[in-house]
Amino acid sequence: MAAGEEKGHGPVWSGRFGEAVAERVKRYTASIGFDRRLAEFDIQGSLAHARMLAATGVLSAADLAAIERGMATIGDEIRSGRFVWSIDDEDVHFAIERRLTALAGDAGRRLHTGRSRNDQVATDIRLFLRAAIDEIAALIKAVQHALVDLAERHAATAMPGFTHLQVAQPVTFGHHLLAYYEMFARDRARLADCRKRVNRLPLGAAALAGTSYPIDRERVARDLGFEGLCENSLDAVSDRDFAIEFAAAAALVMTHVSRLSEELVLWMSPPFAFIRLPDRFCTGSSIMPQKKNPDVPELARGKAGRVFGHLVGLLTLMKGQPLAYNKDNQEDKEPLFDTVDTLVDTLAVFAEMIPGIEVDPERMRAAAAEGHATATDLADYLVTRGMPFRDAHEAVARAVRAAEARGCDLARLPLAELQGFAREIGEDVYAVLSIEGSLAGRTHRGGTAPAQVLEAVRRARAELA
Ligand code: ARG
Repeated sequence: MAAGEEKGHGPVWSGRFGEAVAERVKRYTASIGFDRRLAEFDIQGSLAHARMLAATGVLSAADLAAIERGMATIGDEIRSGRFVWSIDDEDVHFAIERRLTALAGDAGRRLHTGRSRNDQVATDIRLFLRAAIDEIAALIKAVQHALVDLAERHAATAMPGFTHLQVAQPVTFGHHLLAYYEMFARDRARLADCRKRVNRLPLGAAALAGTSYPIDRERVARDLGFEGLCENSLDAVSDRDFAIEFAAAAALVMTHVSRLSEELVLWMSPPFAFIRLPDRFCTGSSIMPQKKNPDVPELARGKAGRVFGHLVGLLTLMKGQPLAYNKDNQEDKEPLFDTVDTLVDTLAVFAEMIPGIEVDPERMRAAAAEGHATATDLADYLVTRGMPFRDAHEAVARAVRAAEARGCDLARLPLAELQGFAREIGEDVYAVLSIEGSLAGRTHRGGTAPAQVLEAVRRARAELA
């Protein structure tokens, strides 16, 4: 057939059918509305497949050249928005093949030799996900950079550390921020690990049983930058565990973003007033003129929910499927796309917002100076003077009650009164009861002392480099 001609009218598979598919069914089964997003990867995969077919002599050099020219045109048409997407094409794979056949004639009709949409779509998703993982990993890194910069500036800024959201012990704000640095470091490691299993070639599996053409799968894998092959054709076309793994890693990223968001919201609340977010990251109220709402962290906290939903959706999609490919798998795309979009948008806005966080060190310090945050330090002090820790704990607990009764912090009890609880207490106790003394004492690796925070910042920068 010459270029421009198309055989028949219906879908490429219509030869088997006695009547046209019902309009409603066509709409119900089509994925073109969303899988067109895979177009650039579909073209990449097709080109690698065609080059391999030409190298093994299945396709002529002239056919390959016609396919390459046609795909270049199609790529341009898609990028410039001129490509005509039609529901009649069912999905992105048929749409591109139909257009290729219009442009390249029989060469286009030969492209699908030794291939099925089943291994084709599995390849497309893997290529898409690999690119998405790289983009997300880079954005997590940008968030980590922002956290490290802020942590360095606040290596010595005291704040109350909480357990049960009750004042527990003083920590530095820098140390607190670096806790998130660590969470995001694990997130990146998880994504890097998942990427290894995403980055394998399904092509060659064809519909499910492989193909009798003399194919060279290693060549296609190299061409597409895959690290290896899917080793079983049935598994290659049917499992989406790599996508589920990605969704699980994404759910954890959003868990961490959501925890940070929760803290930002709390810290911005006027009774805390530890931080301010710049106006460009907040919105107002339509009725209460005084309001400045932390919409970005609130929304991020909310968006974690939809990502978790996608993870459960994908698990559920997979669990009942017999081998090999089933149409169920078409449902993998929207949750995956939405997961990627949610992470990209959320991480990008956080990378921009974190450097804008304005800290109020006085408010933080004042909050740390309430709630007897250095009680543990007093107990430790008594231990260094020979008292067993359990006795020290009890003596300090009684001192705290006395301070409560007086309406003051433990650190403000007069020496004589403190000595009433433990004779071992001397003049030097106030160095221990002070926030700075408490912080400076925790100088081991992983501790909150300003010197250790700076050390952790140095390590983090080396990891990010
Ligand atoms: N649109 C389909 C999907 O997303 C492509 C594969 C269709 N294969 C098939 N045998 N119907 O999974």
